[in-house]
Amino acid sequence: MTTGLARYDFAERAIHWLSALSFLYAAFTGLAMWSHKLYWLAGVFGGGNATRFAHPWAGLIFALVLGFMFRRWAGQMRLDREDRVWLRKSHQYAMNQDEGMPEAGRFNAGQKMLFWLQSVAAVALLATGVVLWFPEWMPRFLRLVAISLHPLAAVLAIALIILHIYMGTAVIPGAFRAMIHGRVTSGWVKAHHPKWFRLTLR
Ligand code: HEM
Repeated sequence: MTTGLARYDFAERAIHWLSALSFLYAAFTGLAMWSHKLYWLAGVFGGGNATRFAHPWAGLIFALVLGFMFRRWAGQMRLDREDRVWLRKSHQYAMNQDEGMPEAGRFNAGQKMLFWLQSVAAVALLATGVVLWFPEWMPRFLRLVAISLHPLAAVLAIALIILHIYMGTAVIPGAFRAMIHGRVTSGWVKAHHPKWFRLTLR
């Protein structure tokens, strides 16, 4: 039986969970190669050689899936005037003082920022990752840029995802279920995305 309101359709959930899986795989295998203190992680992925082999492929799959996510959501993630006010007041949101915050549409401005920053990080990871995958074909200058930029972009992406997982699981009850079953209650939408409720769902 289906109850509640539709938040994510099947394609959106499939794209999301494929991006999550490929991201985690690429992140953990990357961390294993990044620091000898984290090399024990390579054991989880079948040893050093398997980790070295799998990492760029997982990264490539992540970039591809993120391309599908981009095509699907970029139009809905544009920041409008109210979103900019929301961002200026985001400290209030973080302190749980929602009164006076502009009403969020289907996605609030924080979710939109995550989407754009994650997209920028993914492009940087892909571009620098390809250079590191085929170093023998690349000029020395590009290799030097890639060696420094790749881990920086990875640290940004991992920090964003830690925040995203925390928000989606611990802070906003019902959000995780929405990404599993696709549905939410009307009370949930009114509480977290009132403008979306007013404009499209009522
Ligand atoms: C690995 C664990 C992950 C978990 C547990 C997770 C959880 C969630 C949840 C619960 C939502 C629904 C939020 C809502 O509707 O209020 C969501 C949405 C979303 N997720 Fe994830 N996610 C994960 C990984 C990722 C990754 C790797 C990306 C992309 C790089 C991503 C990008 C998004 C985007 C763009 C949305 C829609 C906007 C937003 O809610 O931020 N997620 N995620």
